[in-house]
Amino acid sequence: MDQGDSDWWRHGIFYQVYPRSFQDTDGDGVGDLRGIIERLPYLTRLGVDAIWLSPIFPSPMVDFGYDISDYTGIDPLFGTMEDFDELVAAVHDAGLKLILDLVPNHTSDQHPWFIEAKSARDNPRRDWYIWRDPGPDGGPPNNWLSEFGGSAWTYDETSGQYYYHAFLAQQPDLNWRNPAVREAIYEVMRVWLRKGVDGFRVDVIWHLIKDADFRDNPPNPHYLEGRPPHEKILTQYSTDQAEVHEVITEMRRVTDEFDDRVLIGEVYLPLHRLVAYYGNDLRGAQMPFNFALLSTLWSARSVEKIIADYEKALPPGAWPNWVLGNHDRPRVASRVGPAQVGVAAMLLLTLRGTPTLYYGDELGMRQQPIAPDQVRDPFEKNVPGLGVGRDGCRTPMQWSAERYAGFSTAQPWLPLAHDFASDNVASLEADPASILSFYKALIALRRQLPQLVRGSYEPVGAHGDVLLYRRRSVDGVAVIALNFGTAPATITSSAIGFSNVILLSTFMDRQGEKVEGMLDLRANEGVILGPPQHQDDG
Ligand code: NOJ
Repeated sequence: MDQGDSDWWRHGIFYQVYPRSFQDTDGDGVGDLRGIIERLPYLTRLGVDAIWLSPIFPSPMVDFGYDISDYTGIDPLFGTMEDFDELVAAVHDAGLKLILDLVPNHTSDQHPWFIEAKSARDNPRRDWYIWRDPGPDGGPPNNWLSEFGGSAWTYDETSGQYYYHAFLAQQPDLNWRNPAVREAIYEVMRVWLRKGVDGFRVDVIWHLIKDADFRDNPPNPHYLEGRPPHEKILTQYSTDQAEVHEVITEMRRVTDEFDDRVLIGEVYLPLHRLVAYYGNDLRGAQMPFNFALLSTLWSARSVEKIIADYEKALPPGAWPNWVLGNHDRPRVASRVGPAQVGVAAMLLLTLRGTPTLYYGDELGMRQQPIAPDQVRDPFEKNVPGLGVGRDGCRTPMQWSAERYAGFSTAQPWLPLAHDFASDNVASLEADPASILSFYKALIALRRQLPQLVRGSYEPVGAHGDVLLYRRRSVDGVAVIALNFGTAPATITSSAIGFSNVILLSTFMDRQGEKVEGMLDLRANEGVILGPPQHQDDG
């Protein structure tokens, strides 16, 4: 990627690293910054363009770094500021970009700001957080629930008031109606931007502003038994308030003080609400994360509908993006089934918009069952047995068949997957037919065909289990056919064309095969078709 390319985030492929689980170099069983530096050659071989790191800042780690006690430091568990500076330089030297996680909605209860705020009602920092008197019955001020179980309000004996926390009691929410809070976080952003980071993924950005009157949330009429308890009420007054867009525009102004930076927002909302996060005149987040594929039924018709709804909802000029996995959701290989991982990858990397890969998905890593005594995730600890635990998607990266999978020399902080001896970077890179080799071929083809990056998305009507679409630009047309089904399928469509060849199949064994108006797909097969490419033999 060219330096100074203001479109890099539109054309690039993002890769999320969960630092605790990527590579340990100091033998404590937890990944660190030097580990990421060591593994950069792998990421360049894979062909990604930008790396997003989950939080690396000082933290009591109650929510594994999403509880920050110092916004401008590095937690010693991950290394030092020198290591970080080295990482920035190494990432840029490799031609990649570095995105940090910004967690502005809440701090740790150990952050000096909260310690001050809690110390007395008249402390100048009191209003940096959200304090309310008890309700009429002496209980919490309203019915808002914590996403991690129980009330979202915790009583503070010293001052006789409750403070609000959308997540754990150890994660008090900052008061974003207070201009001093805004300025403090904007300054934090500048510190990292000056160090050369290329942007932020902003944690729970749709949570930042709450109803000014703290009205009770309405019950959720669609609550399903067996789902986590916080879903019993809607979040009508606790999230997605109109004034949040003013804050995001301010954040965007901060990133725009620097050249070529990107603001990505974490937003779990229906598509029609999600797209508001691009902001008026696109002055909000450049990419509000589109998580629609994380919860959809895995079928050609539901995915086709999601794409259509999203493309339709996008404001003019807004750039799309797609996500298949992250550190909060079950691994894609387990969600869609191992047989569909190739189809899922081909979908992610051929849809219109920036793809974000989650570490290990390129190895087909699965959701790991976690024994009760090995649970680390506070969500699972607070709300056990419902399957909400996130440890299973955060297990260590599988580098080799060595002890501890080449991730560490010590017992890793979470158990390794049982399949690591066979499914690891070393063995999969050596196998030309592996899922990892397929990911590499797919990424390489994406680089070769500008229409896969810049082209329009054109749905093509198909039936049954096949999803069919074209990507068209001045550079040419590519046709993508994905069989979501477990039976072979034949498509006859004018879209298939008579002078196209198969450029890539998920099974990697049909390159160059001519198609003549008709395409046979095997079960679980996806293909990319296009005019024959001028390639070297071999
Ligand atoms: C969203 C993050 O992705 C998740 O891991 C975290 O627990 C919550 N925000 C709270 O910060």
